[in-house]
Amino acid sequence: MRLILFGMPGVGKGTQAKILSQKHGAIHVSTGDMLRSNVQNGTPLGAMAKTYMDKGELVPDHLIIAMIEEVLSSPKARKGYVLDGFPRTVAQAEALETILWRANVPIDRAINIVVDEEEVVRRLSGRMTCPNCGAIYHKYNQPPKTPDMCDQCGHVGLVQRNDDKEETVRHRLEVYHKNTEPVLEFYRKKGAIVDVDGAKPVEEVTASIEALVQNGKA
Ligand code: AP5
Repeated sequence: MRLILFGMPGVGKGTQAKILSQKHGAIHVSTGDMLRSNVQNGTPLGAMAKTYMDKGELVPDHLIIAMIEEVLSSPKARKGYVLDGFPRTVAQAEALETILWRANVPIDRAINIVVDEEEVVRRLSGRMTCPNCGAIYHKYNQPPKTPDMCDQCGHVGLVQRNDDKEETVRHRLEVYHKNTEPVLEFYRKKGAIVDVDGAKPVEEVTASIEALVQNGKA
């Protein structure tokens, strides 16, 4: 499976990418998770990225493209991947085309998960993540079985992301409209993207994406 998941912040890209990559033996390539791990580990890339991420701005293209090039050319990418949060600018989409052309492995599907803007604000303001394994929860929609404890790894102490404050979320949405919507247009012109209703329950969204991947309806 080689899949790109698009959509506004909070539509459920990470949630779906985790489920699909686990089920289909692919790797989950989240530029957001990779950057957060660099921030946590105090790397020079993390220090640079943090200044952009905390404000809800995009990290410069050349840093992101170098990071993606490294992952997609690694042996672990041969079993397939789900791209989550990349590409996010037309320059990133063009760079991806070159990477795929060089490797001679086209993507199977590009899926745009669609959710109403006010709903994504509600989702992000209630999101909690496990700082240990990255599992994603929601205070009301998808609470962990035991309050504050991760179902996946047992870590106690779920956290809210720095960029999930309402003001920053609203700015991330503006950045999405300005920089990432043109990427959708880039793929629509090629007839290479299909919309999925992301307002349905998690399992139904997963089933819709799988049906599109399996039946070749993109
Ligand atoms: P990133 O981490 O990629 O954030 P994002 O794209 O803004 O997306 P989110 O992770 O916020 O949302 P999601 O769609 O994954 O939703 P989730 O599944 O968590 O990027 C963060 C920052 O890093 C950027 O702002 C930028 O600075 C930088 N960055 C990253 N990539 C970059 C790039 N390529 N170029 C430049 N900069 C980059 O779900 C959200 C909530 O909803 C959860 O609580 C979940 O439980 C709940 N939920 C999910 N699905 C459902 C459902 N079907 N029904 C009800 N609730 C649901």
